[in-house]
Amino acid sequence: MPDLVVGPMLRYVDSTRASIWMETDRPGVVTVCGRWDTPTFSVHGHHYAIVDLEGYEGEYTVELDGERVWPVDRPSRIRLMPPEGPSRVMFGSCRTSVPHDAVHTATHGVDVLHAYAGSDKPLPDLLLMIGDQVYADKPSAPMLEFIAARRKPGEEPAKEIADFEEYAELYRQAWTDPDIRWLLSTVPTAMIFDDHDLRDDWNTSKDWRAEMARTSWWQRRVVSGLGAYWIYQHLGNLSPDERADDPLLVALKRGEGAEALDGFAARADADPSSNRWSYARDLGHSRLIIVDTRCARQLTPGDRRMLDPGEWAWLEEQIAQTSGRLIIGSSIPFLLPEGVHYVQNWNEALCDGKWGRLVAWLSERFRQAFDLEHWGAFRRSFDDLARLLVELRRPVLILSGDVHYSYLAQAPGPIYQIVCSPIRNPLSKALRLANIVTQFGVATLIGGALASLARIPRPPFRWRVTKGPLFQNALASLEFGERVTVVWHGESLDPLETVHDL
Ligand SMILES: [Fe+2]
Repeated sequence: MPDLVVGPMLRYVDSTRASIWMETDRPGVVTVCGRWDTPTFSVHGHHYAIVDLEGYEGEYTVELDGERVWPVDRPSRIRLMPPEGPSRVMFGSCRTSVPHDAVHTATHGVDVLHAYAGSDKPLPDLLLMIGDQVYADKPSAPMLEFIAARRKPGEEPAKEIADFEEYAELYRQAWTDPDIRWLLSTVPTAMIFDDHDLRDDWNTSKDWRAEMARTSWWQRRVVSGLGAYWIYQHLGNLSPDERADDPLLVALKRGEGAEALDGFAARADADPSSNRWSYARDLGHSRLIIVDTRCARQLTPGDRRMLDPGEWAWLEEQIAQTSGRLIIGSSIPFLLPEGVHYVQNWNEALCDGKWGRLVAWLSERFRQAFDLEHWGAFRRSFDDLARLLVELRRPVLILSGDVHYSYLAQAPGPIYQIVCSPIRNPLSKALRLANIVTQFGVATLIGGALASLARIPRPPFRWRVTKGPLFQNALASLEFGERVTVVWHGESLDPLETVHDL
C-alpha cells in the first residue's frame, strides 16, 4: 500500500489558493480531492509533492497513485485566508521533538503545540514557526538510535545530524506525531529557520565560519541542512506563482535530484546573494515580512550586516509597499533587553579590534560562549532598521523567538517586539535565574557604560521590556481587531499573560 511519510501539510494559503505539501514513500502521482494532481519529484531517495488548489474550501482527501492515503482518522480542512486578513495568527519557536511520555515531559515540559493540537481551542488562520523547528545539533534519543544504526560509533559529527537522510528522519520525527500531524494538515504554516535548524550559533561571525570550515563534516552538514530546509520548510512558504518559476523546483521536477539540490544549497551557503530565503505576504489588514537573519548575513569584520546589501534592499522595498499594519518575523529578537543590546554592541566593537588583537580574540570567545549574535551584535543593521521603522509612523509588530523566554518590548513608533520562545525547550531553573541576573540585572547596570566606554553611538531610540520575561513553554496568539491582543498560552493552554491594544 502506498503511504505518506510526512504530511500532508497545509502550507501557503491566500484568499483563493491553498498549497499542500507532502513526502510520499514512493514516486507516483498525488491527487487532492480527486481534482488537483501532480507527480512527485525525488531527491536523495525521498519523494515529495506540493499540490496547488484553486477556489476550494472544506475537507480534503489525498490519493497516491489512486489509493486513498489521507485522512487517516480526523478529517483535515482547508480554510482560505479571509480577504480582510486573519483574525488569529499563532506563533512560536524552539521546539525539541522528544517523545510526549512522562520521562520527557519531566525534562522538556509539555509540547505546547502538541497540547494545542489535541485540544478543542480555536484554530488560527496561520501558524508561524519562526526558528529552531528542528535541532540538528541536539538529536533526541530516538534520533540518536537512527544515527547509531547507520554510522560507525564516533564517526563525526558524533551525536549530530550528518546528511540529508538524517535530516529527513529528523523532520519525520518532528512532524508525524498524530496530533501534530493533524494540526499541520489543517492549519496553514509559514516558517523560517534559526541557528539550531543548522547548528547552534550558525553564522555568528567570520571566525565561527572559519572554525566550522576546518572540520571534516560541516560542509556536508550545511549542504544537507539547507537542502532539507528548502524541501521541508521553504517550499511551502512560497506562493504558487513564486514556485512556478523557481529554477530549483523546475530542475527537481526534470529529475536532476540531489545534484541540483546540493549544488543550490552549497551556493546558498557560500554566496547568500545567490538565493533569498526571506519572503513577504499580504494578509489583508497587514503585510507579513519574514526575514532571514541567519544565512543572509555579511560577516566582514568592521562591516558586519544582519542582512547583506541585496537582502537589505529587498527588505526596504517590502516595507515601502506596506499600507496597513506591518508584521516582521525575525527569528532572533530585534529589541532585546536594552542592557543586553549594549553588551552586544560593545562586544562587536571589541571583536572588530577596537581594543587590540588580544581583546578581539577574547571577545570572540565571549561572543560565542554567551550567544552575542542578535541585532545588537550587528549594530549598523539595527540602527538602519530602527530608523526605517520609526519613519514609517505606523504600528510595527516584530515577532521573534530563539532566547528561551517570552516578553514584550515597546519602542517609539510604536514598535512592539513580541517574543515567544520556547514551544518545548525550557531553560533549567538555574539558567532562568542566570538569565534574570545577567540579562535583566548586570547587563542593565553596566551595558550602557560598556558601550559608552567603547565610544559606540547610542541607538536611534530607547525601549523598555513591558511584559515578561516568561520562562515557561509557550505558544503566542495574536488576535486582530481594530488593535491587536497578544496572548501567551502556557502548558495548560491557559493564558500566561495577555496584552491588549497593540
Ligand atoms: Fe535559536
